[in-house]
Amino acid sequence: MHTIIPAPASIESKAGVFQLERDCPIEAAPEFSGEAKLLAVWLASESTSLPRAASPSGAKRGAIRLVRDESMRDGEGYRLDISSEGILISAKGPAGVFYGCVTLRQLAMENSGSIQAMLIADEPRFSWRGSMLDTSRNFFSVAFLKKYIDLLAFHKLNRFHWHLTDDQGWRIEIDRYPELTKIGSWRGDRRIHGEVRRNGGFYSKADVREILEYCRERHIVVVPEIEMPGHAMAALAAFPGLSCTGGSFEVEDRFGIFEDVYCAGNDETFVFMKNVLEEVCDLFPGPWVHIGGDECPKTRWNACPKCRAAMKREGLKNAEELQSWFVRKAETILAARGKMMIGWDEILEGGLAPGAAVMSWRGEKGGIEAARAGHDVVMTPGEWTYLDHYNTSGPEPLAIGGDVVSLAKAYGYDPVPAGLTPGESSHVLGSEGLIWTEYVPTPAHLEYMLWPRLSALSEVFWSPKEGRDFKEFQQRLKEHAKRLDALDVNRWRPQEERAKFKERP
Ligand code: ACM
Ligand code: ZN
Repeated sequence: MHTIIPAPASIESKAGVFQLERDCPIEAAPEFSGEAKLLAVWLASESTSLPRAASPSGAKRGAIRLVRDESMRDGEGYRLDISSEGILISAKGPAGVFYGCVTLRQLAMENSGSIQAMLIADEPRFSWRGSMLDTSRNFFSVAFLKKYIDLLAFHKLNRFHWHLTDDQGWRIEIDRYPELTKIGSWRGDRRIHGEVRRNGGFYSKADVREILEYCRERHIVVVPEIEMPGHAMAALAAFPGLSCTGGSFEVEDRFGIFEDVYCAGNDETFVFMKNVLEEVCDLFPGPWVHIGGDECPKTRWNACPKCRAAMKREGLKNAEELQSWFVRKAETILAARGKMMIGWDEILEGGLAPGAAVMSWRGEKGGIEAARAGHDVVMTPGEWTYLDHYNTSGPEPLAIGGDVVSLAKAYGYDPVPAGLTPGESSHVLGSEGLIWTEYVPTPAHLEYMLWPRLSALSEVFWSPKEGRDFKEFQQRLKEHAKRLDALDVNRWRPQEERAKFKERP
């Protein structure tokens, strides 16, 4: 039995054991030098129980080799061949080699580096294996983001969906509009878990580049999310003239859905949108930009002379069509910079922009509709993938209401909705584990909500569906939990384990 999470596509046990030693030599083809460097750091810092080399210096020692295999498919697949003589990781390119190294990283953390000989042939089920973090409701430091991102890589997740703007905070520096962060990045004092906190901060462009580089090394694509036309109170606090009423506004300190949104009949809105999105496109190298699009009330638009004039001028029947028109303008701006647009499933209402991908959060319906219309979709229905929901129905720290997303529930999710044809299913790029942080005020609390539910989801996103068994997963999770502990992760624990620990967060 192995304990790897997410479970590899295939494993064959072989006779023999490889004893990993401290400072085991790693030989790598030049194009895999980045992966070799990371692996060396992991083995040195995490596998502290590895024995020193037993053989006298000069004697032949088993080595780890990272090699290119031209015969393999492009992409993220790899082979990991462990024999008593040495370890061979082969793949066509760096992403595959990287995932081979991640598997070895997990194996090296147990049994003092004594690894059963085996042959693993592995590749992911889905190409989009993501995690969304809301850094608007609560700000998280760059140092903490790196810890979180490394844990994504540890689970072979490859999309960091970075929620950067919302009613309660604008978190990304935009050179053209310094007021966005000067005014928009601070929310007022509030009391949570009995503590008053003034929450704020933002990521400078240098911070963002640091995160991008950290993600690049770990084969993670960053998908920035800049919310429009709703969830915009932090931006409107800085630029009230972009609203329908003219304001004034404050950065929201309550949680909810707010009626003041960007005015869709004001040319200034689109100048602002273009300038902001162009800076975002220039900063983030990935192919996608998320424009939000969820929960935009139409109250102000229906009452606004400028919005009504725009509807008339453009021949739009209602405010839903006005939102589609707005979103299409965003898509045009992104397309001119070579980017693809993705948005929450509300962007379907009033007609979907031609090249848009849809993130289906209000159940599976939006994703099914978009896939049937030939659009790519990322399935993120709250019922299974929202990790801000309660872990259990028992005593838990305050969380957003709604369904409990238990470990078993998350593990039981299938991103491909029932009833799609194979052709339609091919539009399901994958899924994410998501977290909104209104009730998640600290890094320790965030980890408590994410782990190990995101470990379970990583297996849903990576591993073959056939043979999935929650009981067997739980067995592997016992060993994996020790790895999370070694990485200082404040994971959620089952009731029977909790008694032994001081309750956190
Ligand atoms: C969302 O949860 N409002 C996308
Ligand atoms: Zn308006």
